[in-house]
Amino acid sequence: MNQNIIIRNISVVDEKAQSDKCYDIYICDGIIKTVGIAPEDASALVIDGTGLTAFPSFFDMHVHFRDPGFTHKEDIITGSAAAAAGGVTGVLCMPNTNPPVDSEETINYIREKAAQTGIDVYQTACITSGMKGEKLADFDMYKRLGVAAVSDDGKPVKNAELMRQALINAEETGLLVTSHCEDMDIIGKGIMNKGAVSEKLGVAGMDRASEDSITAREIALAGAAGTRVHIAHVSTEGSIGFIRDAKKRGLKVTCETCPHYFIFTEEKLLARDADYRMNPPLREKRDIDAVAEAVMDGTIDCIVTDHAPHAADEKSDFEKAPNGVVGLETSFAATLTYLYHTGKITLQKISELMSENPRKLLGLEPVYIREGSTADICIADINREWTVDPDRLHSKSHNTLFKGITLKGKPVLTISKGKIIFSEMKS
Ligand code: DOR
Ligand code: ZN
Repeated sequence: MNQNIIIRNISVVDEKAQSDKCYDIYICDGIIKTVGIAPEDASALVIDGTGLTAFPSFFDMHVHFRDPGFTHKEDIITGSAAAAAGGVTGVLCMPNTNPPVDSEETINYIREKAAQTGIDVYQTACITSGMKGEKLADFDMYKRLGVAAVSDDGKPVKNAELMRQALINAEETGLLVTSHCEDMDIIGKGIMNKGAVSEKLGVAGMDRASEDSITAREIALAGAAGTRVHIAHVSTEGSIGFIRDAKKRGLKVTCETCPHYFIFTEEKLLARDADYRMNPPLREKRDIDAVAEAVMDGTIDCIVTDHAPHAADEKSDFEKAPNGVVGLETSFAATLTYLYHTGKITLQKISELMSENPRKLLGLEPVYIREGSTADICIADINREWTVDPDRLHSKSHNTLFKGITLKGKPVLTISKGKIIFSEMKS
């Protein structure tokens, strides 16, 4: 049984809590028993929460843990440690492993390994067998095994009729479809956003139409079929326009973005450093402004990381490196720094984007800092400044685009089901 915990005198982020007040949180047997004044419990671990803030722990619905097959980049255990350090106690993994996640054997392998982590690891399985884009995988089998969503993340399902069938089957089975919206033919040999910087560097670019066109297609397909569709890692002004319009029309379209899409532009690529390369790529000023605006007005439902670890030697050649950046340990801090401390969104809104909405989208019970809720808590010092040192990350890979950047705010203690799984508390 877990040790009971009392966190004294802490600010609480919850709709029902007053932001100018401090509370004691009493955790008993993994459940929040009191938010108010803690009862006497001589056996409890007492934590001084003065100056700190308690958030419902975060849920990242877009991560790549590379396990099985690419465990030199990350594995389920190290990925979960990175999550814990970011205040994240639940993740949804993408299926582009080796083999890709489309069989009972692979799903069971992941589930058994995930049980050794202190966090909730959910799995997305492939839409098409082997992610080959040829035939739909067995969604009934997925559902039976507890798979939460389907995606061919890394690319879209090229054949629109196959995608339409996938949306219909997934709706019937109760699986969320997450679509990676990039037309691979438009991308061609592109390695970064097509624009002034790619031209300056003399490298092939990815035209923004690659993203806009597939986003529009998915909305059209889901709209006509009356199904849900979730648009992954939105990065363009154009995509946002289509999604905002779809929501206005009452379609069941949801979407996510990553911190780098509201913070950095293609200018970062001028250093010819592959740590700034990902799919979709960093875009332009008008795009990061549009993404921030869409986070503020509710067009964007969730902030995710697209945590995509790659080894240092793989990232060493600017033009040949694989795309992707790690993000689990910086996502909350970056969101605080660039959206909260700039006055664009509230702490409650961060909680909705990073904790409540992703869990709801997947049909999971949201966690709150309330009596009776599971004790899944991120305790943060929202004013602590720290400089991101890639070598100090818990992830096996260090390809962070926040390297050397000073962020304001940091998780200092993460509690998963009443158990402390990460602590950086100063004693
Ligand atoms: O940059 C990316 N990397 N985008 C993706 O969609 C896939 C990911 C990966 O698996 O490395
Ligand atoms: Zn993707």
